[in-house]
Amino acid sequence: MRQQFVAGNWKMHGSLASNAALLAEVLAGVGTARCEVAICVPYPYLSQVQQLLQTSQVALGAQDCSVHQSGAHTGEVSVSMLQDFGCRYVIVGHSERRADHHESDVLVAAKAERALEAGMTPIVCVGETLAERESGLTRAVVLRQLLAVTHLLREQTSRIVVAYEPVWAIGTGRTATPEQAQEVHAVLREHLRTVSEAAAGVRILYGGSVKPDNAAVLFSQADIDGGLIGGASLKAADFLAIAAAT
Ligand code: G3H
Repeated sequence: MRQQFVAGNWKMHGSLASNAALLAEVLAGVGTARCEVAICVPYPYLSQVQQLLQTSQVALGAQDCSVHQSGAHTGEVSVSMLQDFGCRYVIVGHSERRADHHESDVLVAAKAERALEAGMTPIVCVGETLAERESGLTRAVVLRQLLAVTHLLREQTSRIVVAYEPVWAIGTGRTATPEQAQEVHAVLREHLRTVSEAAAGVRILYGGSVKPDNAAVLFSQADIDGGLIGGASLKAADFLAIAAAT
């Protein structure tokens, strides 16, 4: 039985004041959530959010990590630094990083490996662009991205989470229909099954304009195990409603 999981990705939003207000509201309501909940915050706020989450059931995550352990890599943040702030999760391969920072499948896999070595759970994002979908390449693209981490899935299955995020649905208000999302999740699950029985149990989150009014139907699909939530994680009421929809 896969436990449903809702992770907020604040992206590059927040301030000391707004984080405190948002989390006060989230923490006041999250007690009744049946799913696992995590929040992935910008690096400068890890310490603040770690303290605010201290006595709660909400896990802390980062939005990226360096592929390097340490050294002369200006601007990079290593997994051991994330560990210092109690991060349990780290998002790797988000499409915004793949696009804005030219991150390759190989780099994303190496980042996932660093996270696993540090005892953290990487949330490995996959997803096709609109042009790729319209060219009939969705299956090929997501499988290529998943194949890059297959060696890790073989060794460290239980500590990996996959997130399917169609690029055309991110921040656009254009959600994949539950059928479109399920179709891709089933493709991913089918591949996981070929890796091992344990890998078949890896959680696959859906991300892309998840809102309170579409969350329940998305999460009720056979192979959707929760969501990676961007915009709606910045509004406590919406984020709580999404967590309650699992
Ligand atoms: O990581 C989260 C995804 O990019 C989804 O973002 O919910 O704002 O569409 P969104």
